[in-house]
Amino acid sequence: MPQDFQPTKYKLQSFKTGKIFQDEGWTLDAPGEESPSLIRAIFENKQLNVRDDSFGLYKFADWLPVNKMLEGSSPPVTYKSKGLAEELGLKELYITFSGYWPEKGAKMHTCSFKETEAYSVGGRLNPESGEVLVVASAGNTSRSFARVCSDNNIPLLLCVPEDNLNALWFDKPIRDNVKLVVTRSGSDYFDAIHLSNLACQLDGFIPEGGAKNVARRDGMGTTVLSAVTEIGHIPEYYFQAVGSGTGAISAWEANLRFIEDGRYGSNKMKLMISQNHPFIPLHDAWKANSRHLLPFDDEEARKQVEEIDAKVLSNRKPPYPIAGGLFDAMTDTGGDVLFATNEEAAYASGLFEKLEGIDIHPAASVAVASLIDAVKAGEVEKDATIMLNITGGGEKRLKSEKEVTYLKPSHVFEITPSLETVKGVLDRLF
Ligand SMILES: Cc1ncc(COP(=O)(O)O)c(C=O)c1O
Repeated sequence: MPQDFQPTKYKLQSFKTGKIFQDEGWTLDAPGEESPSLIRAIFENKQLNVRDDSFGLYKFADWLPVNKMLEGSSPPVTYKSKGLAEELGLKELYITFSGYWPEKGAKMHTCSFKETEAYSVGGRLNPESGEVLVVASAGNTSRSFARVCSDNNIPLLLCVPEDNLNALWFDKPIRDNVKLVVTRSGSDYFDAIHLSNLACQLDGFIPEGGAKNVARRDGMGTTVLSAVTEIGHIPEYYFQAVGSGTGAISAWEANLRFIEDGRYGSNKMKLMISQNHPFIPLHDAWKANSRHLLPFDDEEARKQVEEIDAKVLSNRKPPYPIAGGLFDAMTDTGGDVLFATNEEAAYASGLFEKLEGIDIHPAASVAVASLIDAVKAGEVEKDATIMLNITGGGEKRLKSEKEVTYLKPSHVFEITPSLETVKGVLDRLF
């Protein structure tokens, strides 16, 4: 890995008020502002200077809020589709792939774009602080953070529901600086989040921050940096499957930076985001033209989540209403929220593998299914430039080549443990 790396120069800005301020190290909210708003990174370099591939993901460091490079990263890869494009009659379909596909240059060993977040967030951390990063997740996020923190000796506490332990597979062992704790079987993602909130009340533990963390969003935005620099201009449409919608917010933000850069056009990509039916709260809110999610019954939502194959698309509290969040992104770009059933996604997955030559994640299949649908319905022009964000893939391929091991929990908590119990366990673990 190259040694000549200088911290990226940037400031932070409140979306709501436009106020600009310094990053105090781990700023997640605008200081002194009461009304909730996402904050954004304002990079000193307005024109993106892409470094060579030896920098891994940090080839895009000009637009990543990082002060160091970590070991082992790989950027998303963009190429022009032949097989799927021909099948759908599309002239300018570009695929941005995050995952494991060595022939294409994609070497993300945890097989999803969540790795872009983990390398960016880890690169923003101050190594001197000695604080433990806390991440709650039910799937790909926990796997990517575990891998990146293990390889780079960053203390990490992962909070995961016990029923999701099968997501924690790895092609090499995870080191001791990463500790996994779970909420017992029968709990879900929200119970894991509750546990992580308790941990963050203790000294020495800091929340990763989710969509509020600029490093997370700008990490995901590298998919668009890859696409636009490869294509040569900003596409007209952006297709992605969403749970929280953070990837789409990031795509919008990257798009705005390219407009400022001035070399890639001045259009805004229409964000064509999709959910896995029957769990479609973003679709329902968007179609009702509502900034807030429509009220839904938690039990009903749990049942819908059980039904969907793309479990990572099951976020019940997405950053949709918040200022600078998904509703604002969609409103600004004029996109649409689509959905696909399990059957449509399974068909799309088979078609993609046959025509493009790699297996893809169930979530990415939802995006492909929505693209197929949108083309059939005439919602996109056949000669439009389209970016299809394949957010995860190559897992089957990787597992056929390498033996995987599973990370074991250091402790199993009750569904809602007390702060004292959590403190006792974490004092022992760290
Ligand atoms: C493979 C994959 N695709 C898509 C998503 C949805 O991402 P977002 O946070 O942008 O909604 C996830 C989230 O975990 C994911 O793992």
